[in-house]
Amino acid sequence: MAAEDGIRRLAAALREAQRVTVVTGAGVSAASGIPTFRGSGSDQLWSPSQNSSYRWPAASVAYSRGSAFGGRLRPEELATPEAFARDPNLVWEWYAWRRDLVARARPNRAHEVLAAWSRRFPRFTLVTQNVDGLHERAGTENVVRFHGSLWELACASRCAGSPPAWPHEEPFDELPPRCPSCGGLARPGVVWFGEMIPLEALARARAALDCDVCIAVGTSAVVYPAAALVAEAAERGAWTAEINPEATPASAAVDLALACPAEQALEDVEKLLSEGHPPRRSGLS
Ligand code: OAD
Repeated sequence: MAAEDGIRRLAAALREAQRVTVVTGAGVSAASGIPTFRGSGSDQLWSPSQNSSYRWPAASVAYSRGSAFGGRLRPEELATPEAFARDPNLVWEWYAWRRDLVARARPNRAHEVLAAWSRRFPRFTLVTQNVDGLHERAGTENVVRFHGSLWELACASRCAGSPPAWPHEEPFDELPPRCPSCGGLARPGVVWFGEMIPLEALARARAALDCDVCIAVGTSAVVYPAAALVAEAAERGAWTAEINPEATPASAAVDLALACPAEQALEDVEKLLSEGHPPRRSGLS
């Protein structure tokens, strides 16, 4: 199917929808210059020897780079409680690099269109696996942060004196940052592999799966439980779509798989919606 047909079908589905839920992943921020973890755009994956902007004591650097990981680092090797316990400096160096990158980035057209949709539809929920905060910076309403935020910290030992997480948007004076209450290590306020999704985020996301249209945008659909959300929406009767230039394990299961970059597809759909084309009654298929 030509991309234009897909764009038209998605616009037609959205014209009839009251309740819209969008599940986003790293691909939605690719056009903002944030590397994805997998698929196209992941070629800039972090490696401590190339990207470090922090000056570590020599012994620490040698340990970090030479022992545990070496070479290119995958998220599964860094975004885990075990990696943090083994080498908090290395993990913090990666997060500090990502914070620097995101702080310089701007929301792209995909973020902007989704922000507009959060006001266009009577009920709109955006569930994001991204921790970069770009949806919020674009002004999106009703964002569910499934994997937490780069811009929050938490006490690594969950000490009694600290809140579950606290905002921290300024550059760090030194790494690793410390818990202001107990003086122990602070950790990024994100969900790591093997950890639970925050209960409130999970409940809000699952409630949003009772919707008319559910769209996965820019996610490789391999990390659970986020990867199961669109299928669950379909089970509950939603019409489903995926926007991703590459095929994913979810592509065959959705009603419409649009093989386009998100910033382009969403812009094209938004143009059709804004032109006020009359709803197509034959609609969803
Ligand atoms: P991935 O990096 O796994 O997948 C990004 C997807 O975006 C790939 O399927 C690409 O094909 C697609 N993509 C690239 N450029 C795109 C564009 N311009 N428009 C649309 N799609 C594009 O990212 P996620 O699925 O978000 O978790 O990854 C899920 C989780 O794995 C992340 O939240 C993170 C990671 O490890 C944790 O850190 C816990």
